[in-house]
Amino acid sequence: MVEVEGLYHSYARDGRYAVEDVSFAIAKGETFGFLGPSGAGKSTTQGVLTGLLQLQKGAVTVAGHDMRKPGRAMFNRIGVSFEQSNVYDKLTALENLEFYRKLFDVETLDPMELLRTVGLDHVAKKKAGEFSKGMKHRLTFARSMLNRPELWFLDEPTTGLDPAIASEIKDIVKKRKEEGATIFLTTHNMYIADELCDRVAFIIDGKIKLVDSPRALKLRYGEKLVRIDARTEVGGTRS
Ligand SMILES: Nc1ncnc2c1ncn2[C@@H]1O[C@H](COP(=O)(O)OP(=O)(O)O)[C@@H](O)[C@H]1O
Ligand SMILES: [Mg+2]
Repeated sequence: MVEVEGLYHSYARDGRYAVEDVSFAIAKGETFGFLGPSGAGKSTTQGVLTGLLQLQKGAVTVAGHDMRKPGRAMFNRIGVSFEQSNVYDKLTALENLEFYRKLFDVETLDPMELLRTVGLDHVAKKKAGEFSKGMKHRLTFARSMLNRPELWFLDEPTTGLDPAIASEIKDIVKKRKEEGATIFLTTHNMYIADELCDRVAFIIDGKIKLVDSPRALKLRYGEKLVRIDARTEVGGTRS
């Protein structure tokens, strides 16, 4: 579904690379995580893969489309949730979704239904400019699902959200995954990567250090922790 070979990206085109010689492939139906610290190059990679940033060097194919010349057909098939929400402040939540809906040539989901999914139906008529950061993030997330994308890009989908909302977002991602969506997810949180991803690529300073399943990574590098369960016996003595 995604093939990346020898990808480089330099913002200033000055020989310094935010992403350097990155190669990986994502199979259909797979949830692939990009895990790494802040500034590692995760959002830059997503930017190139979604056509937000121009492909400078390397070969990138997304949903069968060569990213040297991404076409409209590709945008109908993908969904993108950005780290920084980019909804229109002057439009209400519902108007935001109604507006974006018109940009697609394919069937789209009902905006009100989507707002319900992300818990924003009660503020559907409120301007996005009045939303908290978490609410805007949820609206951006909802927007990325409008066209029921078969390939879904999620940049830090739960970062900065309170735990209850983060948990709801994770459940939505898991459901779409079960329905067969292919997902590219970036995060600096290893627990999120572990919970949601089939395979994880570690990226540091623009370079992929290794790619494996969360389970294999934990077996190889995980801390050896011994869990001790305390049990309270009748009479108050502990064992
Ligand atoms: N618009 C930009 N202009 C110049 N440099 C940028 C820009 N966006 C990101 N960078 C730089 O590129 C590197 C990778 O950033 P980014 O892809 O956002 O990392 P991550 O998403 O892993 O936190 C960082 O050194 C960052 O400062
Ligand atoms: Mg980022």
